[in-house]
Amino acid sequence: MSTSDLFDAAPAGGPDLQRVQELHRLLHHHAHRYYVLDAPEIPDAEYDRLFRELQALEAAHPELITSDSPTQRVGGQILDGLAPVRHAVPMLSIDTETDTTAQGAQNFDARVRKALGLLETDPPVDYAAELKFDGLAINLRYERGVLVQAATRGDGETGEDVTQNVRTIGQIPLRLNGCDAPVLEVRGEVYMRRDDFESLNEKQREKGEKTFINPRNTAAGAIRQLDPALVAQRPLSFFAYGLGEVQGWALPATHSQMLDALQALGLPVCAERVVAQGAEGLLAFHQAMGAKRDALPFDIDGVVYKVNALALQQQLGFKTREPRWAVAHKYPAQEMLTTVQAIEVQVGRTGKLTPVAKLAPVFVGGVTVTNATLHNEDEARRKDVRVGDTVIVRRAGDVIPEVVSVLLEKRQPGAEVFTMPRICPVCGSAAVREEDEADYRCTGGLFCSAQRKQAILHFAQRRAVEVEGLGEKLVDQLVDGGVVKTLPDLYRLGLVALASLERMADKSAQNIVDALEKSKQTTLPRFIFGLGIRHVGEATAKALARHFGQLDAIMDASEEALLQVPDVGPVVAQSIHTFFQQAHNREVVEQLRACGVHWEEGEPSPAAQLPLAGKTFVLTGTLPTLSREQAKEMLEAAGAKVAGSVSKKTDYVVAGEEAGSKLDKARDLGVTVIDEAGLQALLGGAVG
Ligand code: IVH
Repeated sequence: MSTSDLFDAAPAGGPDLQRVQELHRLLHHHAHRYYVLDAPEIPDAEYDRLFRELQALEAAHPELITSDSPTQRVGGQILDGLAPVRHAVPMLSIDTETDTTAQGAQNFDARVRKALGLLETDPPVDYAAELKFDGLAINLRYERGVLVQAATRGDGETGEDVTQNVRTIGQIPLRLNGCDAPVLEVRGEVYMRRDDFESLNEKQREKGEKTFINPRNTAAGAIRQLDPALVAQRPLSFFAYGLGEVQGWALPATHSQMLDALQALGLPVCAERVVAQGAEGLLAFHQAMGAKRDALPFDIDGVVYKVNALALQQQLGFKTREPRWAVAHKYPAQEMLTTVQAIEVQVGRTGKLTPVAKLAPVFVGGVTVTNATLHNEDEARRKDVRVGDTVIVRRAGDVIPEVVSVLLEKRQPGAEVFTMPRICPVCGSAAVREEDEADYRCTGGLFCSAQRKQAILHFAQRRAVEVEGLGEKLVDQLVDGGVVKTLPDLYRLGLVALASLERMADKSAQNIVDALEKSKQTTLPRFIFGLGIRHVGEATAKALARHFGQLDAIMDASEEALLQVPDVGPVVAQSIHTFFQQAHNREVVEQLRACGVHWEEGEPSPAAQLPLAGKTFVLTGTLPTLSREQAKEMLEAAGAKVAGSVSKKTDYVVAGEEAGSKLDKARDLGVTVIDEAGLQALLGGAVG
């Protein structure tokens, strides 16, 4: 009897088995292209078709279901608890160099050189330098290339079995590419990207549910969940950085080659890594990544240096719990404890009231923080921050510092619950919260000096008409002293009035007068933006100027006419219309013109004539040559609208490197995804 006879005799032999194997191969390949490389070769619909074909075959022949089948990612049972797993090779920790200065790298290099018995005249040691990801460590056990177990680190000797949950992470291969080693344990970090974390919290806020504290806690909590279906809803990611038990897999000579090899097996390995020579090389990496830290799509709390040659690693060996060949070199923490000295309510340009916690100064994420936003009433109430409380502040990336939680056990008796004032703390006008809005607003308008100050600063800023030197302190003096009540008053300020202000030297007064004179020559978009109409940012101001060409046309436009402008929806159209309907606003415009503020007016160029009119784009990730701002401007100039999130109405998603959940969403919705070259082609074809 031949082998094929044997298969024919089996319940699901020959063609079915072959097709199942072929589908495994195809689906593994395409999942890797999609999740790890972020470079799919086939449309989602085709992937789904293959997936459903496999599901159908497996339903007909359950005996063909294997644990590495792409259909087996989700679908685990709800567990009573997580089973203990004893690690074949203990999961060690790393020595931490808390000296965040250059000394940290020098100390480590000196220790390594000493332990290796190197002389000063010997050449520098090669190190693998990589990022210290802020997530949780996981051991992935592959047997004959198939993922059979995933475990947390636990105490290093014994962790917890989280296989079911880890299987839901699309980036983690269920089967390695061309690896049939009896045992290959891969170690790495499960983490959550910042944008995924922000959108998860945004969804929680929309649902009125509790927000998550930070990406690390969220990732760690998700991995230890007992219901894998819940885990599947948390967008988790993974980076490999090391090995555990290995049998039958040839080790490369260096750590960095080992990471290359893991990458070739289909595992995600972070691209931000180098082989560095000596302390100097380590330091350069520490500084480069420190500068890049805020721009990375995920949190790191430092960098890790590892002696690159595995032979030298072995020679160096271990202390009790840490290897001598590795060290973590930290950055300033992104979360710190401090106390709340007061809760102030600030009034923004549009009258929005924002509760702000005034903090005892604390160094977080590389800067000294004294204020942290509490967002709005609902958020402040959910977090229940009170004066005197000890709180955790977080500052990561470019986001405004935030109070993430309160240490309740440290609360002083009698600490009072914070309530939003019902009157504006600055002008005493009523503060109201409109239905469906999260914010309270002062109804005082330009009667409110806080709004007046903000309105002047907004008008004078660089992106508007630009009055150099007109900063917060001066505006405070001018408004509080009653010298400036409206925008045109600025242009009526004489040298004498300015010079008579406290702490104002004659020369600075002259500089302000000159700057005011210079600001009179402006452009229509800058002027419109500078007026501070609610919902009218720079992009909308540009679109309005382009569409109507002249200010009077904008001032007299009906809501219907405004709706014809790209980037203008009903809310924005109403806001612009209402603004110019009000006599006092028209008066301000007239007086500014009378004071000599001017610009060149253009011909109307209705959006419909622009090549990308009516098209909506979303930008995500880092483009190879264009900054996000540049891409946005080019698109807007061609009449396109650039939106912040992907929906069914999106026409194109322009994706660069490290694109995140927006790209996933685009694929889910079947939105066309293009890269920078595709964008240039569209613009070239459109504009040229
Ligand atoms: S190597 C023997 N590399 O830091 C060395 N660890 O205390 C084993 N971590 O919980 C670890 N990024 O999860 C290594 N690039 C990296 C890392 C890293 C983050 C975490 C790891 C562990 C802790 C070490």
